Amino acid sequence: MALNHHSPPGPRGLPWLGVTFDLVRNPLALLERMGHECGPVSEMHYWRGSRVLLNDPAAIEQVLVVQHQKFIKGVLLRLTAQRLLGQGLLTSEGELWRRQRRLMQPAFHRARIADYAPAMVRIAAEQAEEWRPGQQRDLAAEMMNISLRVAVHTLFGLEMKSEARSIGQALSAIMRRDLRRLRSPVQLPNSFPTPANRRAERGYALLESLVSGIIEEKRRNGHSSDDLLSRLIAGGDAEGAPMSARQLRDETMTLLLAGHETTALALTWTWYLLSQNPAPEAALHDEIDGVLAGRAPTPEDLDRMPYLAAVIQESLRLYPPAYTVGRSSLEPTEFGGYQFPADTVFLMSSWVTQRDSRNFHNPLAFRPERWIEGPPVEGFRYFPFGGGPRRCIGQPFALMELGLVVALLASRFRFRLAAGHSVVPEPLVTLRPKHGMPMRIEERR
Ligand code: HEM
Repeated sequence: MALNHHSPPGPRGLPWLGVTFDLVRNPLALLERMGHECGPVSEMHYWRGSRVLLNDPAAIEQVLVVQHQKFIKGVLLRLTAQRLLGQGLLTSEGELWRRQRRLMQPAFHRARIADYAPAMVRIAAEQAEEWRPGQQRDLAAEMMNISLRVAVHTLFGLEMKSEARSIGQALSAIMRRDLRRLRSPVQLPNSFPTPANRRAERGYALLESLVSGIIEEKRRNGHSSDDLLSRLIAGGDAEGAPMSARQLRDETMTLLLAGHETTALALTWTWYLLSQNPAPEAALHDEIDGVLAGRAPTPEDLDRMPYLAAVIQESLRLYPPAYTVGRSSLEPTEFGGYQFPADTVFLMSSWVTQRDSRNFHNPLAFRPERWIEGPPVEGFRYFPFGGGPRRCIGQPFALMELGLVVALLASRFRFRLAAGHSVVPEPLVTLRPKHGMPMRIEERR
């Protein structure tokens, strides 16, 4: 192919500022416009530099899998997550990443994950005990509570009851402030006492004290148990070297945040989609009632509920919690006939690609049937968990938790969006419902 030395097409912007205002105001719409109107390879310019969006399954596969050695994690993740996650599994690179991934992998094997199922079901049932029919609750907060307690119990061997709401608020404050700093050219130092800065700094302090509390409690009582954190504290990597305190803090923070936030969001978006789509909701209820007949679900039941699996796949298609992954190139590369120098930042957005009519028929419709009746979806048309060596280590864990929690709660309840509430997806590091998800709880039986 003849190489094109011009830049790829992209959205028009202002001189120097480029699309900065669009990026601050509505990043999802900007990404969609690029991906759906500007072609498979497009580029935006904003005050900080440029970003290349790849909306081409073959190019995405090249970056994440085939040529993964030529890329490292994107600058966005490095800048937003460095302070929070340090050199944890999500953000580290090279030999350190390889060693830590090897160390943690056994905790995420399918067979091991089935052991976590009873806790997932118990914790969801306990949360539901607090609900009364007719009551309105913020399902986003309820789901954060469930997934946080599940993560802390299964990965750290500890119990946590009431911190989910404050963790959720801390994360929102941190992501909002730090992302705004990245996207907007108007910068005040973090120490400047604006309300946004104060909220974010309080958020950091809360998460730090939570994580140091978890590690301390574990060191004090029973790091001889069999959970992942005990194994990390005990060292036990291939060389048997103990992990530094800093590394332990980074991995614990990473597991705490990566292990609950995305799953809670996937649950929240699933309840929202079901509430808006009565026919799929009824089909799901029929399947669950037929298989469970009123009892609690087990991992074996999940194999007998293909419609449930399809509902979850379809929800992760329309509202992928990790809606964009980024990579920076280590050397010159070429995509779609365009040449890019080293240090180009590439974005791959599951939100954009999974809502593209070239990849899915009638892409904005919630149709779980497409996963059952249609041809298998191949390649990187669909990548809610990323791909290649940096694919989500928690994918089987998340799918098990999503299946069990949806099956259990949908067997007992349906949820209806609060009257007049407008649902606004907010693309922070993850895709959150901006004003929560207030829903009325209705008992099914
Ligand atoms: C629906 C739920 C989830 C979604 C949508 C999701 C999505 C993702 C994605 C897209 C990546 C790749 C990021 C990249 O390539 O830059 C990733 C990585 C990761 N996820 Fe998840 N995740 C979910 C649940 C979980 C859970 C439950 C855990 C832990 C218990 C977890 C832990 C991690 C970790 C540690 C990484 C980094 C892996 C590495 O780089 O080796 N995730 N996740």
